[in-house]
Order: sequence, then C-alpha cells, then structure tokens
Amino acid sequence: MLLDIITIFPEYFAPLGVSLIGKAVQRGDIAVGVHDLRSWAHDPHKTVDDTPFGGGPGMVMRPEPWGEALDAVLGAADGRAQSPGGAPSAGGAQLIVPTPAGELFSQGIAAELAGAEHLIFACGRYEGIDARVVDYARNLMPVRELSIGDYVLAGGEPAVLVMVEAICRLLPGVLGNAGSAPDDSFGAGDGPMHGLVEGPAYTRPRAWRGLEVPDVLLSGNHGAIARWRRDAALRRTALTRPDLVARLPSAALSARDRQVLSQARFAVTGEDVAH
Ligand code: ADE
Repeated sequence: MLLDIITIFPEYFAPLGVSLIGKAVQRGDIAVGVHDLRSWAHDPHKTVDDTPFGGGPGMVMRPEPWGEALDAVLGAADGRAQSPGGAPSAGGAQLIVPTPAGELFSQGIAAELAGAEHLIFACGRYEGIDARVVDYARNLMPVRELSIGDYVLAGGEPAVLVMVEAICRLLPGVLGNAGSAPDDSFGAGDGPMHGLVEGPAYTRPRAWRGLEVPDVLLSGNHGAIARWRRDAALRRTALTRPDLVARLPSAALSARDRQVLSQARFAVTGEDVAH
C-alpha cells in the first residue's frame, strides 16, 4: 500500500517510523511519503492560507498549493501518466480529507480503506481547505471526508495518524498476531466477541499487590474461559456502550447472555439492553 500525506507539519508524522507500522515500512509492505505543502507555495513567505471570502474568523487554506500537491503526488505514483485533459490520472488512488464535518470514521471504513492501493491524506489547518480543492479532486479520484469523532482538533494531522494506524494494522502481516484483528472490539469477525467491546486481559504474575487473576483463566478449561470472557465482555459493553448492546441482533444472544445482561442492567439505567 502507498500512503501519501500532505501537511504543513511533516515532522508530525515521525511516529509512522516506529512500532508495527515502522516495521511494515522497513519490510516494504507500506510505502509512506510525507510532503510539505509549503513546497508548492511560490511566494517568498511560502504562504498557504488567506482570509475567508465573505468574512469571518480564521484563515482558509488556498487552493493553488493543494492543486499542485495533488497533481504531484498522483503523477509521482503512476509514473506521471497524464489524462487527456492534462491533469494526472489517479489510478487506484483515493483522497482522504480529515475534517470534523466528515462522515464518522469507523472500523468498517478502516477495513474498506485497507483494501486500497494508494491513499492520499490532505491535512487541513486553520478553518479548513478552500472547498474547490475537494471538488477538483473528485474529478480525479474517490474522495472521502472523514471525522475521527465529535470534537475539534487544531488540524487534520492527529486524525491522519489515528486513521493510518487503524487501516495499516489490518494489512496482512502488519499485526504480530494475525488472529487478533477480527476479534477486536468493532472487528469484522463473526467470533464470540462480535459487536462487543473487549473484556479485561491479564498476564503474569498471578498475584500482584494483593490483586489476583480470576481463577477460571488458570483452569485450563477452554469452554469455561470462553464463557467467562464473553460474560466479562457483555458486562463491560453494557456498562460503557449500551448503544452497542442495543444493536446486537436478538438471535446473537443466548439465554446465558440475557441473564448476564439483566444482571448488569443496574449499570445501564433507563436502557432496555436485554431485548
Ligand atoms: N480536524 C479537526 N478536527 C477533526 C476531527 N474530529 N476529525 C478529523 N479531522 C479533524
């Protein structure tokens, strides 16, 4: 997979050189290009923003450096293949624009994007990017405007780090334990934890500062361990994410599941979580 990130803060992306993604880059499974938007600004001050037409607070990123940046990363990716109109053609590229005004990013979207050949991330700052940039880009490639949550960041960079990590850990060979992604909270798998957040996990030592690991996890009884894990996941999901419990299809809940949920009901006052 090829990732191109356009930003006015290239140094923000140093974390992509470490951990699982850093290793995938070293192996050549992922290629990452981080590009300074200011290298496509041509005035002596390398200006990339201006005041908004119509007035109002803040600054808007000007379209010209963005247009040149997109043309350059597309051209570089497909050997400068040119469409008949002269603009670079996009091949398998998709543009991701992080914005609090976008569609909510999710594990499902991460899984879709993990199938892409080439993702280009356009990090906006200030009050955003001139809207014509997205209009222009839609003529060249699919564009998704994505929000990572209902809060406002100072710029798209941290959102891109979040999305890149969520996407890249789904690529074959990136996770150390290939079995772990489908069982994640929100994972695409149809395993016993599907639709639930993960329950607690423990490791050695068995007793630590007076706190013991639950006996069942040391019992070697795989059936009992699986049941205990599902119970714990149901209780935690009822407590922290009653919205997810309410979305579980009735057919996915056994009599035992319903019993665990009704016992946890105290934690979800006012919510009918047990269907
Ligand atoms: N830029 C600013 N806030 C954002 C958010 N919540 N998600 C994505 N990009 C953003």
